[in-house]
Parts: sequence; structure tokens; C-alpha cells
Amino acid sequence: MPNNIVELLPLLQKYSKPGPRYTSYPTAPAFKKNYSSDARLLSLERAGEDISLYFHLPFCDTLCYFCGCTMLISNNRDRIAEYLDYLEQEIKMTSTVIGDRNVVQVHWGGGTPTHLLPSEIRRLGEAIHKYFRIAKNAEISVEIDPREVTRDHIQALADVGFRRASIGVQDIDEKVQKAINRLQPESVTRQVIDWCRRCGFDSINIDLIYGLPMQTRESFKKTLERVLLFEPDRLALYNFAYVPWLKPHQKLIHIEDLPESQEKLLLFTDATNTFLEHGYEYIGMDHFAKPGDELSKARAAGTLQRNFQGYSTLAGCDLVGLGMSAISHIGTTFTQNAKSLPTYYEKIDKGQFPVVSGLEMTADDRIREEVIMRLMCDLKIDKVAINQLFDIDFDVYFSSSLDALGELESDGMVIDTPATLLITEKGRYFLRNIAMCFDAYLKAAVTTIPVFSKTL
Ligand SMILES: C[S@@+](CC[C@H](N)C(=O)[O-])C[C@H]1O[C@@H](n2cnc3c(N)ncnc32)[C@H](O)[C@@H]1O
Ligand code: SF4
Repeated sequence: MPNNIVELLPLLQKYSKPGPRYTSYPTAPAFKKNYSSDARLLSLERAGEDISLYFHLPFCDTLCYFCGCTMLISNNRDRIAEYLDYLEQEIKMTSTVIGDRNVVQVHWGGGTPTHLLPSEIRRLGEAIHKYFRIAKNAEISVEIDPREVTRDHIQALADVGFRRASIGVQDIDEKVQKAINRLQPESVTRQVIDWCRRCGFDSINIDLIYGLPMQTRESFKKTLERVLLFEPDRLALYNFAYVPWLKPHQKLIHIEDLPESQEKLLLFTDATNTFLEHGYEYIGMDHFAKPGDELSKARAAGTLQRNFQGYSTLAGCDLVGLGMSAISHIGTTFTQNAKSLPTYYEKIDKGQFPVVSGLEMTADDRIREEVIMRLMCDLKIDKVAINQLFDIDFDVYFSSSLDALGELESDGMVIDTPATLLITEKGRYFLRNIAMCFDAYLKAAVTTIPVFSKTL
């Protein structure tokens, strides 16, 4: 990472614009509406041998003003239990088609999976083991909000096989926590991490966000120091996605409390430098990991993958998402479940997969997907490998993308040679902007209504 921040600042102004995070290509806004439930059935039938399962658990106790997730604030236990009934029906429908394919990864995301009661965690965990064949060495991970978690929750998670935890921290500073409506004492976070380790969790990730209201370089430095004392195996450092047109509750944040764009970049560079100085490796975009971590090994071996949960080590795995709003990516088909509970329930009541939108990838989508994923994971494109894989001539096929990249190239972000396209150290800060040059959908998406958060 370059330490010459001064050099980066003018580029920040120039390149800060709305853009996707590329957890998939094409990205979800490109999905077509009124997609048929049969698409899920057909794609599941054609799925490969290895499956990754994602379960969306949307409920949360209280509203964090910054939240960009698909969540529902509810403490109505009957409502939550009803959701689990429907989710179990979707599990049964899905398992009928998947049969005994090998489930190599399970992830619970949200919302807040730990807003379930310990008994509900056991119930859902047991249903998953009953209806799917979970591989012995499967990666089983969960997102945890420490604020309302008890030791029973963690024990229940461990008992149904969880070994990886992603802990939402965001920021430790009290002023920031007040401004985002998320009071989370450091001692509570430490206690939960301790329980996880005692209960046999072998990987702890911590989520932080930079660009939150009231954050300053000084306050964030203290947060980083405190967070490093938790000795996480991985760190996610998310750029605050401020999208009030999509998430109106973000208007509860006082806009004048948000750090200026320069300050925001400094928050990111300070954090990055701190993590590197403490021995963490840069994985890509917003992720860091200890050197022995599987993500670091995959990064070094060039086998890193990117999916809806960020970065992953599992190649060639079909992703099946269950629950409200969950996305599946099976072979060349994307399908997304209903984003509202009434529609999700209505479809399941009819015995249909609760799909509302999706996309069948074209040959062009597949080529661009590979290019964008390699950029995000390897920070370079091996043009020769792409040519062989898709029987194209990279420089001809992507001539307009390379033209669009010209400005980034002259600003020192990428080096284009006949055999490779290399992202420079400086260019790592602008990964999304570089990937956007290869995105065929973007023009249509950004010229209609705002969809994406700012890249920087
Ligand atoms: C589903 S939440 C994690 C679990 C739990 N709900 C919690 O908040 O602790 C996933 C992560 O997304 C990140 N996140 C949520 N809203 C965001 C936003 N607007 N911009 C950037 N990151 C965001 C947070 O770091 C959060 O920990
Ligand atoms: S950040 Fe997490 S806990 Fe807060 S509202 Fe969003 S999903 Fe819920």
C-alpha cells in the first residue's frame, strides 16, 4: 500500500462516484423482475456436486442508522417463529432437488442470526443437518451481533456445527456508537469473542466500517488499537455505503456528522497501514487476514473467489440462498427470493420456490464475470488465460473497456501489457472503478436512478 497519501487525495475527488461492490457479476440491479420459480428448480437440478448454502435471517432487535442490509426490526417472537416455519419449508423443497450433493459451506447472514433464541438456533441447525448432507470439513459460519448474545446462543451455534464467527463491531468509540444508534460496550464484544473461542470456534472475523458519523482519524485509531487486542483472524473494513434513497432510515444520520471525503480516505489508509503493520495481509477490497489464514493462502495461490459474502476459498461451488431476499447462483443462473415476507410466504404456500427475480447469464456475462472476479481477487488479469478459456482475443474483445481504462492507466492505477493487466499498489484503492470499466450493464443502471453507493 502506498504511504504517500497526498498523492492519492486529488484522485479521490476524481474517481469517487457510484459503483457496485462486485460480489457478483452481473450485479443484482441487473436481475430481471417476474422471474419464474421454475428457474430455481431447473438450475438446482443442474447444480454441480459441491454446494454452498446461505440462509438469510432478517430480524434485528433495534435499528442501526447506518444499516444497508435487508433486515426487519422485530421482537415479535411469533413472527420470528413463523419465518422459521417457512424457511424450513423452503429447506425441504430445496433438499428434495439437491438430494445428497455435498454441502461444503454453510453461512447464516442477516439481519441478525443471533436474534434467534438458542432453541431456535438449534431447531434451524438441526433441520439443516437433517435435510442436507453437510461435508465433514464444511466451513460453517455465522454473523453475530454481540449486543444481545448469551453464552447459550454461542453454545447452541457450536452444537449445530458453527466454527467461524463474523462479529459486527463497526466502531468502538461511544460518540460514533451514539450517532449510529448502536451502543455496544467493548467489554460485551470481548465477552462474546471469548465465549466463541471457548466453545470451539476456530476463526473470528471482525466487521468495521469507515466513513461513519462522528468518526475522526484520532477516534478511529483508538478503535483500531482496541480491535487488534481481540486478535481477530480476519478483518473486514467496509466503506460506509450511504444510500438514503434506498435505505431511508439512513436519513436519521446527521449529514454534517459524516467525515469529509478526504478524512474518509485517511480513515481507510490509516486502518490499512495499521493492519499491515500488525502482520495482517491485504486480501482484496475490504478484507484482511492473518498470514496463515486460508484466505491468505488462497490469495497467494491465485485461487481466491468472490461471492455474496465477500471473499471465499471455495472454487467451482454452486451457491444456494434460502430465506427472504437470498440470492442463488447456480451454474449460469442467478435467482433472487422475494424481498418482502408476504410475497415470500405466498409463494411457499403455493408450493413454489419463492423466487421473484433473476438472470440467465449470456456468453458475454460469463467472460466479464471471470475478468471482474480475477481483478477483484488476483489484482491482475492474465490475458492469455482468459483468451484460452473463452477463445477470444482480450485486447480486441475489450477494446472499449481498455479505452475507458486509459485515464486510470495514465493516473498510475493499472499497467497494461500484451500478456497482463496489472493493478498497481495505488490502483488497489480504486478496484471498483477499474472493474466498472468491464461492466456492460453499468451505463443503463447509473443513468436511470441512483443504485450504488460511492466507490470511495
Ligand atoms: C448483516 S450485518 C452483521 C450482523 C449483525 N446484524 C451486526 O450488525 O452485527 C453485516 C455487516 O454489514 C456491514 N454493513 C451494514 N450496513 C452497512 C453499510 N451501510 N455500509 C457498509 N457496511 C455495512 C456491517 O459491518 C455489518 O457488520
Ligand atoms: S447493522 Fe446488523 S444489527 Fe444493525 S440493523 Fe443492520 S443487520 Fe441489524
